Amino acid sequence: MIFYFSGVGNSAWVAQSLAQQLNDTAFAITKYNDEEYIIKPGESVGFVFPVYSWAPPKVVIDFINRIKINTPNYLYFVCTCGDDTGKTADVFAHTVEQRGWHCHAGYSIAMPNTYVSLPGFGIDSDEIEKQKIEKAKIRIEQIINDIKAQKRMTKYDCHEGSIPRFKTYVINPLFTKYQLTTKPFYTTDACISCHQCEQKCPLHNIILVDGKPKWGNNCTQCEACFHICPTNAIQYGKYTKGKQQYKGKLLK
Ligand SMILES: Cc1cc2nc3c(=O)[nH]c(=O)nc-3n(C[C@H](O)[C@H](O)[C@H](O)COP(=O)(O)O)c2cc1C
Repeated sequence: MIFYFSGVGNSAWVAQSLAQQLNDTAFAITKYNDEEYIIKPGESVGFVFPVYSWAPPKVVIDFINRIKINTPNYLYFVCTCGDDTGKTADVFAHTVEQRGWHCHAGYSIAMPNTYVSLPGFGIDSDEIEKQKIEKAKIRIEQIINDIKAQKRMTKYDCHEGSIPRFKTYVINPLFTKYQLTTKPFYTTDACISCHQCEQKCPLHNIILVDGKPKWGNNCTQCEACFHICPTNAIQYGKYTKGKQQYKGKLLK
């Protein structure tokens, strides 16, 4: 079984690619209804998710803490990131250990960047986007071979980047505290009340009121609403103004 979370579609694409080639099932954690899932002997359990501010998204941590499963014999994760993961692997492995399980293998895959809500952050050029996806396909093949062999690692295969501890243990808590707010979201006059943002928000945190999106408090800043809006009408404070949307083929 492969449990996944995806904001804009990158991690969904990875989870579905893995599932297809491993003859496994990819299950969106946002559809989980607290039912117990029995892991069969020899069955692998995978978690696929994006890196948000150098850690797994809170929605993923919460899911691991509450999912009802028996102890997996083989557990792995694949995280997708724009550039680098910081200590995402350690946070994930620690969360899993607290459930009394063990994370046997872990990988990162560089994918097109989706983060736009702060100065200095934007999507990749078409060329970089294309290159990342081609490399990701090769990386997925390698990961599949490892998972088929149920490879066990002492060090996870993630691109941590520079100052990983600082990013994960100092910046991420600040991000969680100050950047998950939905207050800065607004729509411009370009909004055509098409309901796309409402339908594509993975956390069902948007409803249309008088034809305009209204954000609730359960936001993980995945940016799906910003990227999928067909008229680019959704903005986040002043920081997204003029920024391009991710219109890659992998969009959900
Ligand atoms: C809120 C947010 C934070 C992000 N933080 C990081 C990060 O710390 N490091 C990184 O390399 N990419 C980061 N990214 C980029 C995503 O990890 C990457 O684009 C990922 O593939 C998105 O997957 P998804 O489409 O499944 O949500 C961030 C994206 C978002 C929306």
